[in-house]
Order: sequence, then C-alpha cells, then structure tokens
Amino acid sequence: MRTLFLPPLLLLAPLLLAPPANLWGGAAEALSVVRLEAPRTAARGEPLLLRCTFDLEDGPLYTVKWYKDSREFFRFSPQERPQLRVFTTEGVDLDEHASNATHVRLRSVTHASAGKYSCEVTEDAPSFLALIDLAEVHVVEIDVNAGPPKLEGVHARYRLNEEVTAVCRGPWSRPPAQLTLHLNGHYVNSSSLVRHLPPEERADGLLRPAVKLRARAVAGPDGRLRLRCTAALADAYHMVDEKNAMLVRGRGSTPTATEPSAPLGAADDFPPPTVPEPVLEVASGATLTPPVLPMVLAPALAPPLLLLLPWLLESLLGG
Ligand SMILES: *[C@@H]1O[C@H](CO)[C@@H](O)[C@H](O)[C@H]1NC(C)=O
Ligand SMILES: *[C@@H]1O[C@H](CO)[C@@H](O)[C@H](O)[C@H]1NC(C)=O
Repeated sequence: MRTLFLPPLLLLAPLLLAPPANLWGGAAEALSVVRLEAPRTAARGEPLLLRCTFDLEDGPLYTVKWYKDSREFFRFSPQERPQLRVFTTEGVDLDEHASNATHVRLRSVTHASAGKYSCEVTEDAPSFLALIDLAEVHVVEIDVNAGPPKLEGVHARYRLNEEVTAVCRGPWSRPPAQLTLHLNGHYVNSSSLVRHLPPEERADGLLRPAVKLRARAVAGPDGRLRLRCTAALADAYHMVDEKNAMLVRGRGSTPTATEPSAPLGAADDFPPPTVPEPVLEVASGATLTPPVLPMVLAPALAPPLLLLLPWLLESLLGG
C-alpha cells in the first residue's frame, strides 16, 4: 500500500535535483515540438531519407543528435568545429553531403538498417532543454519477379460438405509476407482449418511463406465457393489470388487441369475437419418437436382402442 504514495514524490525528485531554468526565473524554453519523419518501410538497396523538424521559436540550437537503436550515429553542433560528427554504426551508410541539422540520408539500406531511429534536439543555454522523437523503419526485400500469391489445389467443383484442401504460397521476400485466407468472404484463422507451414528459404535469404486450408465445401452468397488468399508485407506489397468453385449435387470433384494439387509438406497433421451439424429445414414454421409417444404407440394401440370405442361411447352417453 505504501508504494501508492511514492510516485508523486518520485515525480518531484528530478525537479528538485535539476530544476529547469524557467522554474527559477530563467527564460521560458522556446523548443516546443520535435518530429521525426521516416518511411515505415524501406526497400533494401534504396536510399533512406529521415527528416527531423523542430521549432526553436528563434531560440539558439545547441545540438541535433541522431540515433539508431539508441546508438548515436550523427551529430550536428552549429557552434562547434567541425559542426558535423559521424559515428560508425552498423547498417548506417551515412551520406554526409546530404545530411545536416534537419536531414539525414543513408545511401543504401540493408537488413541491418532496420530499427528505431530517433532525433534529439537540444536547445542552447540556459535551458538545455532536449526533446526527442522516434520512428521505426522496416527494411523489406521482395524478389524482383514476385507476382501475386498462388492458391493451389482448388478444384473446379465440389459437393456440399466435401473436403476442400488448398495451399496458398506467398512471394519470395524478407521478411516473409503475411498470408490471410478468406472463405466466402469470411476471414479464416481457426487453427482447425488453417495451418501456417514453415516458410521455404532460398540461398539468397529470401523466404516464401505458405498456408494450408482444410475445410468443408459450403456455398457463399452467390451459390459458389470463393477462396481468396492475400499476401501483404508492410506497405511495400499487397496482392491477392482468388479461386471460385461450383457447388454441385451428387457426383464429386474434378481437379482442373491447370491446378495440380500442391504437395502438402511435412506439417500435414490436421485433425479431420468437423462436419457441420445437419440443418433440418422446416416449412412454414412447423415445430420440430412432434409428440413422440403417440406416434410410436398409435399404430399399436389403435386397433384395441377402435374395438373399445363403441363400449366407451355407450358408457359415456348411455349411463
Ligand atoms: C539539409 O539537407 C537537405 C537535403 O538533404 C536540404 O534540402 C536542406 O535544404 C538542407 N538544410 C540546410 C539548412 O542546409
Ligand atoms: C491467427 O490465429 C493465430 C492463433 O490461432 C494467432 O496467433 C494469429 O495472430 C492470428 N492471426 C491474425 C491475423 O489474427
């Protein structure tokens, strides 16, 4: 319980130990906003531009420091000579001629360039107020020939409730793309229906993800079965493959010549898909709870009752 009363004191401690200049009659600090603009995703081999915007309201600048994953790689100090200082950092191939107080340019990004970048702006004396902003940059690499994902193993027609087995493979990329499946417009992610297979890896380090679906054929709103696979990689790649199948009565599935069944890989350990509960169709709101006893007993009891009927009527009416 006592800890509940400590935070206010802890919050005050920095003020007491290191009072900001304006608290003891100094000038109010002018630095109000620092913002780091960075792309969310950069493609491997491409340059990366980062921009640090800040407003000193005409106050003097002391330094702008740039960090990647908390390691300083670049500093701009207008009052020092040299004004620019570069610190060697893995994944940061700094273009010094295109970097200054507000801009940083990396010539070419690698997977090591991915991480959290920040710029820290410090106002000059007396406040030395510092503000920092941070942005995360993902580095992606996509095979130059990458097309849309591929849905394999979908037949041209299925009977209702027949097993549907399909595999969707994404493009070669790093990191691997995220695959999602939609069956008749509904996102499918139940572990009993969908299994993410281990991605294949190529010699150049690119990965290809795959997802396997095992479900029962059901009709969508248009009477057909629609299977859609989406592959996405941050904001760098977003593509879709879609296959439609007819739902037929009676005779079953015929694989289409162009869609050979995919090899299903080692992780082929699905539990068998569950058969949906049979749905009884009831016309015009009739109830499905018939009086069971009369239906079972009536044929057996009817003849004796018929024989007794005259006697029953006589005893009821006559008396
Ligand atoms: C800083 O560099 C960018 C381009 O990298 C340039 O557009 C900008 O004008 C430069 N700023 C200053 C103050 O030199
Ligand atoms: C799909 O389900 C798995 C576990 O069932 C979960 O870990 C994963 O985050 C889900 N994916 C999405 C996109 O919701």
